[in-house]
Amino acid sequence: MIKNSDRAVVRGLKDVAAAETRISYVDFNGFLYYLGYNIDDLVGRVTYAEVAYLLIHKRLPTQLELDKFRVDLVSSMKLPEPVIDSIVSAPKHCHPMDVLRTEVSHLAEYDPEDNDYSEPANMRRATRLIAQIPTIVVTIYRSRLNQLIPEPKKEYGFAQNFLYMFKDAVPDDNERNVLHRYMTLHADHGFNASTFAARVTASTNSDMYSAVTSALGTLKGPLHGGASEKVMEMLDDINLEEEVEEYISGLLDDQKKIMGFGHRVYRAQDPRTKHLRGMVEDLCHRDRTLGLYNKCIKIEEIVYNRKKIYPNVDFYAAVAMDALGVPKEFFTLFFASSRISGWVSHVIEQYEDAVLLRPDSKYVGDFNRQFVPIEKR
Ligand code: CMC
Repeated sequence: MIKNSDRAVVRGLKDVAAAETRISYVDFNGFLYYLGYNIDDLVGRVTYAEVAYLLIHKRLPTQLELDKFRVDLVSSMKLPEPVIDSIVSAPKHCHPMDVLRTEVSHLAEYDPEDNDYSEPANMRRATRLIAQIPTIVVTIYRSRLNQLIPEPKKEYGFAQNFLYMFKDAVPDDNERNVLHRYMTLHADHGFNASTFAARVTASTNSDMYSAVTSALGTLKGPLHGGASEKVMEMLDDINLEEEVEEYISGLLDDQKKIMGFGHRVYRAQDPRTKHLRGMVEDLCHRDRTLGLYNKCIKIEEIVYNRKKIYPNVDFYAAVAMDALGVPKEFFTLFFASSRISGWVSHVIEQYEDAVLLRPDSKYVGDFNRQFVPIEKR
């Protein structure tokens, strides 16, 4: 046991390895690996379902396995009726992340394998959560528009169904491609804050829904997954490309953070940025996307020159989502719909590790205070 006064506090747990993992590796030199595969070798060559399979099964699927997994995902997209009713009756003014967090927790009440916490049951639960989170997102969005929710189509892949149901329009090849790449790039990222939150909850042997609910609450914050929505607010706030310099310099002069920039781990470019920037370039035939892209390029240059920091995953992701027709308050929900495959894989790994994640703190408060009864205070 270390004496309280001798305890070293690692503020923000910077550089602390809290557990071992085989799932993903964030290399500060600017590389990201899923189960040993460099993401540069995966993006654009795999579908999101393939990546989700890789994360939960810890190996790439054969064609037969992938076909079956896709069928399992698409057939698991249906939500229990009470969950649909609860989404429809949720207040329309609240942030959609609040509804998603509540409804994932609500799903636990309708788990078809309630009380079975065996590994095979958890693998099936993981597949259901990967399938159902996008349907919750679709249901929140379409019910706010008072529009019907299309049924998933058997002939479509999983990510394609997600976008089709969200927009009630068949996505073109370009849009489908962008979504697969976006979801692949957001699927996992080491011990990021939301994954760590999920693992802390799982480490108490709590259930997978509780762990994912913890993760959702953590992802929502603007220092994590909520950054993308803030990026779009900033881009919308800058009326013209010519105003970028003054706007960004003003924020930096005031010591404000630029959303979508900086990273806890990477000291080089975030390896996901080049892919996201490229995806946005593919969509620049749309006037709005081109305008946003031009602003982004300028912001990137100014921030680098002043602070020597790079954009993170949330910067160009905001423009990619906007180009797909996703409103900014739903950006974090698309992030969650992708990161769920990472969260559930980490939860399963944490169960295998079977150790309680419980750090210590250094007490810096008072001792031996004189108690004064309430009537004398
Ligand atoms: N804008 C301006 N300066 C920044 C930024 C930024 N976005 N990020 C870091 N810095 C500066 C910071 O001011 C500090 O400078 P100095 O040493 O001169 O005081 C230095 O860089 C280190 O920053 P920090 O905040 O101590 O670094 P951190 O590792 O604690 O924080 C971060 C990492 C991601 C929270 C932070 O970079 C940030 O707040 N970024 C903006 C929000 C954001 O984009 N979040 C998404 C994170 S990545 C994807 C995800 O998780 O969703």
